Amino acid sequence: MSSRSLMAANWKMYKTVEQSLAYARELVRRLEEEPVFDVEQLICPTMPALYPLVQRLAGTSVRVGAQTLDLGQEGANTGAVSGYLVREAGAEYVIVGHSERRQLYGEDDTLVRDKSVAAAQARLTPILCVGETRDQRQAGQTDAVIVRQVEPVIEALASDADLVIAYEPLWAIGTGVLPEPKEANRVAEIIRQVVDRIRPNFSRQVRILYGGSVNRDNICDFAAQPGLDGALVGGASLDVGHWLQLNRFWREVRA
Ligand code: 13P
Repeated sequence: MSSRSLMAANWKMYKTVEQSLAYARELVRRLEEEPVFDVEQLICPTMPALYPLVQRLAGTSVRVGAQTLDLGQEGANTGAVSGYLVREAGAEYVIVGHSERRQLYGEDDTLVRDKSVAAAQARLTPILCVGETRDQRQAGQTDAVIVRQVEPVIEALASDADLVIAYEPLWAIGTGVLPEPKEANRVAEIIRQVVDRIRPNFSRQVRILYGGSVNRDNICDFAAQPGLDGALVGGASLDVGHWLQLNRFWREVRA
C-alpha cells in the first residue's frame, strides 16, 4: 500500500465538543481492537473541538486539522483564528479554499493563496481545495478553473512546503452525484502538470485527494485510481463506523 494515502474527514459545522470527544473515544477503541489502518487518518472538527480532540487523540495515529485559518499571527482581529493559534492548539493540517468558504464567505483565489502561505509559515500542511461548478464543467472550463486555482498557490509557496490538494467538484459536494473516477484521476493529472510546470518535480511530494459524495459504495472506485492519494470526506465521515469502513476499503484496494 502507498504510505502516501491520506483519508481526511471534514466535519464542517457538525458535532459539539462532547459529540466530537465521544467519536474520538469510539475511534480509538475500534482502532485498538483492529489496528489495521496504516492509511494516514485526519479529522478536521469545528474550532471549539480542535484542542480537546488533539488532547484526546494524542499518542494515536489519528491526526487533527482545522477547517480554515485567518491571516496574521495575533492582533486586534475580532473573531479571527490564525494559523499560528491553530498550530499551537495541536493541529497539523488546515483546509484552505474549501468551496463553502469561497461561496459563503467570499474567499477568492488571492486570499486562498495568502492563507496557504500563512498555513505553511505556521508549520501547518495546507489542504488546498479546488474544483469547478456545474456551469463551468458544462462550458468545458474545468481544466482552466483548476489551473487558475492551483497556479498562484504553487507560485507563492516556499519550495520545502508540504501540500495536499483536494479536487472537489462543487456539483459533487453533498449531492450524491459523482464524476467518473477516471475523470477525477484525469483532473489529478492536470493538477500534477500545473504543479510541475511551475516547480519541476514538486508534484511528487504533493498528495492529491478526491472529495465530493464519497461513501462506502463508491470509495473503492476512487481508491483504484493511481493518481489519487486519498479522499476528503464530509457527510460519510460523521459516523465513526462508516468512516472506519472508508479507511479499510481504501487500504484494501491500495494494498
Ligand atoms: P460530502 O462528502 O458530504 O459530499 O462533502 C465533501 C466535502 O465538501 C469535503 O470537504
